[in-house]
Amino acid sequence: MRPLFLALPGNEDAAMGLAAAAGGSLCACEFRTFPDGESYLRVEDDPCGRTVVLVCSLVHPNEKILPLIFAADTLRELGVDRLGLVAPYLAYMRQDCRFHAGEAVTSRSFAGLICRSFDWLVTVDPHLHRYNSLEEIYSIPCRALHAGPLLADWIERNVDRPFLIGPDNESRQWVAAVAFDCGAGSGVFQKSRLSDRSVSIAAGHLRIPPNATPVLVDDIVSSGATMLKALEAVREQTPAPAIAMAIHGVGGDEMAAAFGKINARLVTTNSNSNPKAEIDILGLLASGLKGLID
Ligand code: R5P
Repeated sequence: MRPLFLALPGNEDAAMGLAAAAGGSLCACEFRTFPDGESYLRVEDDPCGRTVVLVCSLVHPNEKILPLIFAADTLRELGVDRLGLVAPYLAYMRQDCRFHAGEAVTSRSFAGLICRSFDWLVTVDPHLHRYNSLEEIYSIPCRALHAGPLLADWIERNVDRPFLIGPDNESRQWVAAVAFDCGAGSGVFQKSRLSDRSVSIAAGHLRIPPNATPVLVDDIVSSGATMLKALEAVREQTPAPAIAMAIHGVGGDEMAAAFGKINARLVTTNSNSNPKAEIDILGLLASGLKGLID
């Protein structure tokens, strides 16, 4: 039987594209919110004995996780065979250790919630820093796909003489991979985080080659504080207009406005719908489903 793809609200385009690419069909589902804020949902197609793929990018995860779990529980009760989750952006990966006494290691708790409800997970470039792989916290089969080649392809088509810069040490893995793929030089700045929306960035020993176009590359841009400070550090070395690229743009309108204010270009993938999404990852996601839904 052909797989069913069920879109959580806001993920309809991705679910439709994946269903078309995988020869599946869409599973109709009504989602709404009662006046008191509780969720209502009704699965309108029969999922009994089928593989069902829920599609939900997990930006702003708190408001999404309960409807997601309710949908998964309902599908199980209705007799689904296998239940997978495609989360183009996977949330709660950055709190990957107890930085201060008493802090919640939310990455582990969140992984527990997902694993309780799904048989497998497909995502794109999760923020793996202190964890080497998702399997360290996720007990279900996981596929972490890489959007780096798509960023490299965009750079090759749009940027003359690119030089890639990561705003911090954590970005090194993405910067190095993208630089390799597009044959560019690269390096990283040094970042200290002062608060949720404030960082300081120093170039350290990194020198941007003369005549190069600086391209900042990171996995996530949220408030934009990291990229905006990195842009300042770039400007101290070169007047060439820099481009900021991130795989996941999770900061919505606030993020877009911050870049608009200084007339800086930000390019992201469409791992969630955001005003700066230019790079399509649908084909990457579809390729990641091979063997899971056949
Ligand atoms: C952190 O380790 C990530 O790779 C990003 O650098 C960070 O999440 C960006 O956040 P913001 O845009 O709020 O500075």
